[in-house]
Amino acid sequence: MATVKKCLFPAAGYGTRFLPATKSMPKEMLPIVTKPLIQYGVEEAMEAGIVDMAIVTGRGKRALEDHFDISYELEHQIAGSDKESLLDETRAVMEQCTFSYTRQVEMKGLGHAISVGGRLIGREPFAVILADDYCVTEGVGVLSQMVTLYERFGCSVVAIEEVPREETFRYGVIAGEEEESGVIRITNMVEKPAPEAAPSNLAIIGRYVLTPEIFDILDDTPPGKNGEIQITDALLTQARRGGVIGCKFQGTRFDCGSVGGFIDATNYTFEKTQSE
Ligand code: UTP
Repeated sequence: MATVKKCLFPAAGYGTRFLPATKSMPKEMLPIVTKPLIQYGVEEAMEAGIVDMAIVTGRGKRALEDHFDISYELEHQIAGSDKESLLDETRAVMEQCTFSYTRQVEMKGLGHAISVGGRLIGREPFAVILADDYCVTEGVGVLSQMVTLYERFGCSVVAIEEVPREETFRYGVIAGEEEESGVIRITNMVEKPAPEAAPSNLAIIGRYVLTPEIFDILDDTPPGKNGEIQITDALLTQARRGGVIGCKFQGTRFDCGSVGGFIDATNYTFEKTQSE
């Protein structure tokens, strides 16, 4: 079975919930304490054994490319000072990973962004991280847990977690049968259902391992909810062929696409760094 070697980061969205901060700055560059969300995502992919990062950007997102590049003037300025070490982690990421970029010219939804990113992936299984879902674990990272399941089951894997019933309208929500503890064979999926229409309270969060068949399915997936091409719709097609499992991951997810989740993540991370 092919191994997962590449991670796709759809990062073209407008991030309107963070205006005015995101007027000229990508949402993925918002820092949790001092590190931008995108770097946490890249580090999680690295922990899962992935070093090829493919980022789908859009207008106003150049800061993402600059972040994973050398800044000669700045680095010269802090060379030899106690601040030099603050860039150690970023340098390590740059040394070990490759970064490729493509632009989504029109924001036609997450499914469309993944389709656009397909040019950077080719015909192989790949991971997807939505960097605004920031995941922390005590041990093995969330993506790593999912790659392990992919290697066992050989099909697409989505990360799922229980959410309060009244919040189902913010997520793709699944139904399915538990194959073993924490592993659900998905039989149904609904994008952003009202609580009364939700098939369960198990929501898909921003981590996926997808087989390349998803690109063919996305090509044939018409716009769905909000007129966008929804990855949930494409995954439902794949699930009906028996090919998608849900991973109830170990760990905590912060929804950093919302202001409240972002503040919670910041407080959590700050307290953690203070106690280290
Ligand atoms: P969101 O639903 O969070 O939308 O997208 P958004 O534009 O980023 O943020 P708000 O709702 O306006 O505040 C989920 C993920 O899908 C990506 C986003 O960048 C985010 O990582 N996305 C969404 C794209 O890359 N392209 C799209 O057309 C839509």
